[in-house]
Amino acid sequence: MFTPDLKSLLLAGSIGAVLSVSSLVLAADAPVRLGTPVTEAQLSEIDLIVMPDGKGLPAGSGTAAQGQAVYDQQCAACHGAQGEGTQGVPALAGGTLTGTPILMTAGSYWPHASTLYDYIRRAMPPTAPKSLSNTEVYQVVAYVLHLSGIVERDFVLDASNLPQVQMPNRDGFIDRSQEQ
Ligand code: HEC
Repeated sequence: MFTPDLKSLLLAGSIGAVLSVSSLVLAADAPVRLGTPVTEAQLSEIDLIVMPDGKGLPAGSGTAAQGQAVYDQQCAACHGAQGEGTQGVPALAGGTLTGTPILMTAGSYWPHASTLYDYIRRAMPPTAPKSLSNTEVYQVVAYVLHLSGIVERDFVLDASNLPQVQMPNRDGFIDRSQEQ
């Protein structure tokens, strides 16, 4: 087996260091060629994070009544007509954390409604992620919440009231994100 001795390792290391220093010196003289600046429009396509306090939610609104059409056409085949799930696809509605068997769903387990908006907008349906309009996402989020009995069918969900939606498991998590 080849075992490099310490001297050749050190030598290789210093050659590497010399090379990288010299390329830095070169780079300082030459224009930095790291691609083209990202435009605001490009950024808005990937900057899709929605926070629990509602930061990042777009304009728009929707009701569960409207969302049923989106759900029936684009979600029900996989997630079941009532959000009960199908083979290999998670249930979205119902579920329990205390009964038997435990069933963790967006309705029973997720502490914030914002996650539904964030996740559905970026990832669902998996065959065409990001294909739903912001309004359709509000509608279908309202419908998924409605399937768990969290909002009324005609409740108009929007950026200002979505963070206030009371998820059943909102107190089930300990936020340690600010601890040192
Ligand atoms: C082709 C099948 C399919 C379609 C259509 C589909 N989903 Fe999904 N969905 C999945 C699968 C599979 C997962 C699990 C993905 C994973 O865990 O990585 C999932 C996960 C989810 C989750 C997260 C559930 C959890 O507890 O982790 C939500 C919410 C969701 N889908 C909503 C929707 C909505 C709303 C639609 C319609 C706009 C939709 N999905 C359409 C297959 C589908």
